[in-house]
Amino acid sequence: MLSHSELKMELRMNSFIILICLLNHLVACEPQCSKFDYEEKTLAKMIRTEILVEQVMSDIKQLKQQTNDAVTSMEKLKTELRESIQSMHAENALKFEEYNNTIMKWKDRIEIKPDVVYLAKDPTTQSPSHGSAIIFGTTMYDESQSYDNSSGTFTAPVAGVYAFTAQMCLNPGSYTFIYYEIVANGKKVSNSLTYDKDTNFCNTAQSFVALDNGQTVHVSALSTSAVPLRQNHVYEWCTFSGILIR
Ligand SMILES: *[C@@H]1O[C@H](CO)[C@@H](O)[C@H](O)[C@H]1NC(C)=O
Ligand SMILES: *[C@@H]1O[C@H](CO)[C@@H](O)[C@H](O)[C@H]1NC(C)=O
Repeated sequence: MLSHSELKMELRMNSFIILICLLNHLVACEPQCSKFDYEEKTLAKMIRTEILVEQVMSDIKQLKQQTNDAVTSMEKLKTELRESIQSMHAENALKFEEYNNTIMKWKDRIEIKPDVVYLAKDPTTQSPSHGSAIIFGTTMYDESQSYDNSSGTFTAPVAGVYAFTAQMCLNPGSYTFIYYEIVANGKKVSNSLTYDKDTNFCNTAQSFVALDNGQTVHVSALSTSAVPLRQNHVYEWCTFSGILIR
């Protein structure tokens, strides 16, 4: 229980605190609470906002311009790129055509050709008749299977330049001879006469010929003595050979 004096003291104390608070509130509020001050602050705030909005608008405008510029320069770059790619294409097409033309021009020369080389020997008769083909019946080798040992005919498997050789060896006897020719594509391309009175004797005829694919070559007897040719001899071979040079 508070005494009377203590109660009085307490009341006085509370009143003092309230007074302090009131004074304090008045002092703190006074400059801010006037209508003029409020309007002034609002106005300032509005002006600041307006400046800020202008700044933002200007920034946006600048940004828009920069974006437009970037888009324009990208479009320009795209056009330049497309043009340069197109001109590269055109240039390449031109180069390709040039190379293709060169390749086409050289195609026949760079074509990989088969190995054409053959050798046949042993005439099927010692006495070939005048104007007939001398048939060499034994095929020693024939890479491209182009020589026919039953007709004595070589058939060119590809177009090209060929070399041909025919060798005739005489049967020894009195005055044997053979006059013969190499015939390519129906025309004489080489000829020779072998003649001897008493010894074994050989000679050759040679020719270089350009042939088309399918053209033929054979050896033909033009004129002979009786039994002029040596047959199946160990030391002397009557032969017919050919090779594709290129
Ligand atoms: C190359 O040239 C030949 C002959 O001119 C032509 O026929 C051919 O079509 C060409 N090839 C290409 C791939 O252009
Ligand atoms: C004749 O030619 C054929 C075909 O090329 C071959 O099979 C045969 O062995 C040849 N004959 C002789 C005797 O060389």
